[in-house]
Amino acid sequence: MSQVYSVAVVVGSLRKESFNRKVARALAELAPSNLKLTIVEIGDLPLYNEDIDVDPPAAYKTFREQVRTSDAVLFVTPEYNRSVPGVLKNAIDVGSRPYGQSAWSGKPGAVISVSPGAVGGFGANHHLRQSLVFLDVPCMQQPEAYIGGAATLFDDNGKLSEKVRPFLQGFIDKYAVWVERHQA
Ligand SMILES: Cc1cc2nc3c(=O)[nH]c(=O)nc-3n(C[C@H](O)[C@H](O)[C@H](O)COP(=O)(O)O)c2cc1C
Repeated sequence: MSQVYSVAVVVGSLRKESFNRKVARALAELAPSNLKLTIVEIGDLPLYNEDIDVDPPAAYKTFREQVRTSDAVLFVTPEYNRSVPGVLKNAIDVGSRPYGQSAWSGKPGAVISVSPGAVGGFGANHHLRQSLVFLDVPCMQQPEAYIGGAATLFDDNGKLSEKVRPFLQGFIDKYAVWVERHQA
């Protein structure tokens, strides 16, 4: 049997009816059998503060461990004011410390941005990629994924639109290849 890779999925929205969370769930269902996607929660992480990190809160420790023990990381995020939502940046910062022990380091990654607007979160997507370069997360280049028109992606029963399904399928299939290729 081929190896199954665990993927920590970080969703950049805390909203109950988040389009990004719905897309993350859809990707988990579409994923090929060698990827297991799990959403890692970031809503209870205290704002990063080096003072409290001297004796890290339980939420920091749990989050770092979840990322560290995953084989790969996938970011699904909205755009806030043409950048990354604060909650997501906070999670990235928490995972990056203590200095020299970043949980992100070397994990193959990918970014997908989802917005009701037409631009599909392009700004957030690329600001996030800037941090991932520094964090040594090899980030899949293609296909780029800026999903606009988020309000039309799911019907009233939560079923994914056939218009976007082939794109998401192609994205997650390509990511599975990327994850396998970048295992240490
Ligand atoms: C503070 C704030 C800033 C926002 N800025 C942007 C933006 O720059 N670009 C954009 O496309 N949408 C922006 N939006 C709209 C979000 O894309 C929209 O609320 C989206 O539904 C959030 O993603 P979610 O459904 O996963 O929660 C913003 C929303 C908020 C609350």
